Amino acid sequence: MYKQIGILTGGGDAPGLNAVIRSVVRTATGRFGMKCTGIEDSFEGILGETHTMSLTQKTVSGILPRGGTILGTRNRGSFVKMVDGKPVYPELPIGEALANLDILGIEALIVLGGEGTLAIAEQFHKRGFPVIGVPKTIDNDLAATELTFGFMTAIDIATEALDRLHTTAASHDRVMVLEVMGRNTGWIALHAGLAGSADIILIPEVPFDFDSVVAKVLERESKGSRFTNIVVAEGAMEVGKHEMYQDTSELRLGGIGEYVTREVARRTGKETRCVVLGHLQRGGSPNAFDRMLGTNFGACAVRALASGETGKMVALQAGTIVTVPLSEACTNLKTVPVDGQLVRSARDIGITFGSPKEVPKG
Ligand code: F6P
Repeated sequence: MYKQIGILTGGGDAPGLNAVIRSVVRTATGRFGMKCTGIEDSFEGILGETHTMSLTQKTVSGILPRGGTILGTRNRGSFVKMVDGKPVYPELPIGEALANLDILGIEALIVLGGEGTLAIAEQFHKRGFPVIGVPKTIDNDLAATELTFGFMTAIDIATEALDRLHTTAASHDRVMVLEVMGRNTGWIALHAGLAGSADIILIPEVPFDFDSVVAKVLERESKGSRFTNIVVAEGAMEVGKHEMYQDTSELRLGGIGEYVTREVARRTGKETRCVVLGHLQRGGSPNAFDRMLGTNFGACAVRALASGETGKMVALQAGTIVTVPLSEACTNLKTVPVDGQLVRSARDIGITFGSPKEVPKG
């Protein structure tokens, strides 16, 4: 049994990170008698002078409903470099981190992160250091797990935003465009669009065409609904075009909401407004589901380590937490099936995805 384990959070934050940290600490210290050390600011905290904190049941008391991560996080750091668009993992920082973990007496790591962070975790595993990953992304786009914590909270927030936009859209006879997160996939847009009664949902998996979008707005108009709600994922793109970036050097997406707003206004003559929900989807308290999922992931991750597993990620499959190889978790993206049940149901109730083939039926 390990005497001391470390825990860190990497990548963008997500509601529920603190729920996982609390669960890991309670399980490791209470159930298995291990010491638990928090590594600050992702893997960066085990470089140089190292930045760590001792985690006890007292330290984590009261953090379950708290947003963000008490450990801090970093999106990109010293452990990965992009070369020709591909990640490369330099030896130097990993060697330094392994030496520092040895000095600190940390014998195994629990790493909370999305595919980028988990790919770094895999490098530690490949060098013989025991690691268990916990999947985190509000985008819910990791193929190995049916759900990631943070996603359900993000949907709640996007749905509330759509509800609020609905009343103002109806009052002013306007088109409202809500841009939500979803770098590669349209899960948030699809789920929130269904829950918040959007009329048009634009997602990366279905390139859209303005003729189709405009036809839907005008069709609603002709039937007496003088307002339209559009939800667009930040990674959505027009047919034959690429996703839009606000900052190409950092590959930060942005601008599609404003673009759709401008074009819809120009082509329909209707007053159209844009709201970019942004980081409101990531900040703040996790909902009950994400607290529960995070707690379950945390305890299962410690149990996996304690039973000798390494190089694995905890994952939700068919309602049960299982472990899957980290390599699987890092490589496969879960996109919205374009002919899947949710998309079909959305179309059945009259939602359009703006594809050129779609003829709005209302
Ligand atoms: O991966 C989650 C995510 O929310 C993406 O949808 C979004 O593009 C990205 O994080 C933004 O992260 P940041 O602003 O921290 O770079």
